[in-house]
Amino acid sequence: MGKKEETLEVYASPFYYEVAFSFRDIKIEVDFFEQCIRNISRTRVKKIIDIGCGPSPYMFELVKRGYAFTGLDISKAMLNYSLEKARKAGIRIKTILADMRNFRSKEKFDFAFCMLGSIEVESNKDFLSHLDSVAGCLKGGGLYLIDASIQFDWTKLSPQNWTIIKNGLTINVTWEAVPISHVGQKIIERLLLEVIEGEKGKTLKMENVGKIIFPQEFLELVEKQGKFEFVGWYNNFDLTQPLEKAASFNRPTTLLRKK
Ligand SMILES: C[S@@+](CC[C@H](N)C(=O)[O-])C[C@H]1O[C@@H](n2cnc3c(N)ncnc32)[C@H](O)[C@@H]1O
Repeated sequence: MGKKEETLEVYASPFYYEVAFSFRDIKIEVDFFEQCIRNISRTRVKKIIDIGCGPSPYMFELVKRGYAFTGLDISKAMLNYSLEKARKAGIRIKTILADMRNFRSKEKFDFAFCMLGSIEVESNKDFLSHLDSVAGCLKGGGLYLIDASIQFDWTKLSPQNWTIIKNGLTINVTWEAVPISHVGQKIIERLLLEVIEGEKGKTLKMENVGKIIFPQEFLELVEKQGKFEFVGWYNNFDLTQPLEKAASFNRPTTLLRKK
């Protein structure tokens, strides 16, 4: 029997995306959120917003710890998938269908986070508008935690490959960022998921043009936007590992606090 092949869009396929990126230890990462909240936030945290939430991998852990969860994404498929997961688990969450580069929310949150390099911008103007949007939905003293998204390891943009084998599925993942304009700091980001499910094969693809933001440029942009103070950047979900002292980078996170 020959394999059946199908090509799909990654962000329209939340389930496969979720399995492909399930290498994380969500509990450890949420422990880090809570350390930041205890030590650095200047507001009591109850309401949390996940920017570019995708399939909302942090939702269950956050709700279990007593927080109210809202996921924001530009993909309806991702939000519907998150709502369905919540419904099946008997929990209530909220979603916002919006573009992270330009949104307004009447509801104010106490803590915002954006995981796995999900700040999608094509220009500094986009990034400033993104910061404005997040500042607009965050209470004063609240933190914005950013996982990756800033190009710390600017000497290389190596392709990354990994395989996840789970629940009868094998997913080979390839991610790469190819420079398309050196002076514009523009890249084309490509994500490929090769899914093998029994006799069936599926290929899922994503291509996105984006602008790299370097660390010192990020600091200048935060200063220019004016609504956040820079707290610090840390290696591997550990407040005792400031990036200034890191020899290599593993899941760097950056903390901003709304003024
Ligand atoms: C790499 S995925 C990360 C998903 C999730 N944060 C996680 O940790 O697995 C990026 C997500 O950002 C969303 N996204 C991309 N561009 C966006 C935009 N301009 N506004 C809002 N969401 C966006 C995509 O739909 C996708 O769900």
